[in-house]
Amino acid sequence: MSKILIRGAKVLGGEPQDVLIDGGTIAEVASSIEAGDATVIEADGQILLPGLVDLHTHLREPGREDSETVLTGTRAAAIGGFTAVHAMANTFPVADTAGVVEQVYRLGKESGYCDVQPVGAVTVGLEGKQLAELGAMHDSAAGVKVFSDDGKCVDDAVIMRRALEYVKAFDGVIAQHAQEPRLTEGAQMNEGVVSAELGLGGWPAVAEESIIARDVLLAAHVGSRVHICHLSTAGSVEIVRWAKSKGWDVTAEVTPHHLLLTDELVRSYNPVYKVNPPLRTETDVLALREALADGTIDCVATDHAPHPHEDKDCEWAAAAMGMVGLETALSVVQETMVETGLLDWAAVADRMSFRPAVIGRLDGHGRPISAGEPANLTLVDPAYRGTVDPAGFASRSRNTPYQGRELPGRVTHTFLRGRATVVDGKLA
Ligand code: DOR
Ligand code: ZN
Ligand code: ZN
Repeated sequence: MSKILIRGAKVLGGEPQDVLIDGGTIAEVASSIEAGDATVIEADGQILLPGLVDLHTHLREPGREDSETVLTGTRAAAIGGFTAVHAMANTFPVADTAGVVEQVYRLGKESGYCDVQPVGAVTVGLEGKQLAELGAMHDSAAGVKVFSDDGKCVDDAVIMRRALEYVKAFDGVIAQHAQEPRLTEGAQMNEGVVSAELGLGGWPAVAEESIIARDVLLAAHVGSRVHICHLSTAGSVEIVRWAKSKGWDVTAEVTPHHLLLTDELVRSYNPVYKVNPPLRTETDVLALREALADGTIDCVATDHAPHPHEDKDCEWAAAAMGMVGLETALSVVQETMVETGLLDWAAVADRMSFRPAVIGRLDGHGRPISAGEPANLTLVDPAYRGTVDPAGFASRSRNTPYQGRELPGRVTHTFLRGRATVVDGKLA
């Protein structure tokens, strides 16, 4: 493979540096490097980050290839600056066996745009009744370390306890979609002033917070790791902060959309804003931003949830829940966290690459930008301003809440082990 010289990029937002990629590896980082026979990328004013890592992506294959495939989803990931994504288990069939996780892993290898780490289901068929074959999924070629019934909550406390006990043996983690099912029966949006005015079934914050409280206590009791998916309320932040203060092995993620959008948008009845957990209030949004800034929330995860238009372009009550997010995630984080002064770019690298890789125990990603490391890199032009146009998405689905919205920043280049997957903002 040839050599690439990235010239004058601000590494992690710091001083401009030259970075030489040779084959799949970072060969040198220095203030000035001779180009020699390398292809030069002029990166004046651009930020160089480690390739982004998503702990929470729905790729939909097998079974819902009309929404997304591993190939289209990994293309969307590359456009968004990601070099690794964790593929959630709520596929058809469910990824609850070694066979299915190996299939997804193999499809990821074939895609070539982004590494795909399959997530295994916690329970058979996401039914919440019987533990799935966690050990076999871990021992398979896919090497599963993150398990989740995402889309559904592992609501049975005994099943949750057993799952935590089981994965402790191999340093695995249970990623919980915290939603108490009885408290959210018929729920259509956040429970609050807006749901009362619209007459839509409310989804109380306590439905999320009560499960998180239970699960941090269970994780502490078992001495195992729990990761909380898509925190959405100020109360959830308080519980995670308390659990961490106890020294318990608890981590948490927040989605870009919960950092930016509120339930006021539901007044439009546009199902593009229908998502699980629901968009909450301004108070929640501000608490989530603050928690991501102070490290209470460990990382950003997209919860990229592609749906075909026939599942979204219908009345609110019938619409599917979820939003695509891979291609806009970094821009939303720039708007909500960087341009507000809450995070600098080094901290963005921490929350979107280093920490998710550590939580997922993912090798070769979330590494420092220094000689000898795998060349998984993302180059960002922070001065760019553009309007989101889903027609141009690499994802097969178009269900973005940001259509027509101006967002800052653009990923100009993504490198996966030294190979450019994105050049000048387009798939290579
Ligand atoms: O909005 C969501 N969509 N939340 C989930 O938990 C599942 C996801 C999906 O699979 O569409
Ligand atoms: Zn979820
Ligand atoms: Zn999800």
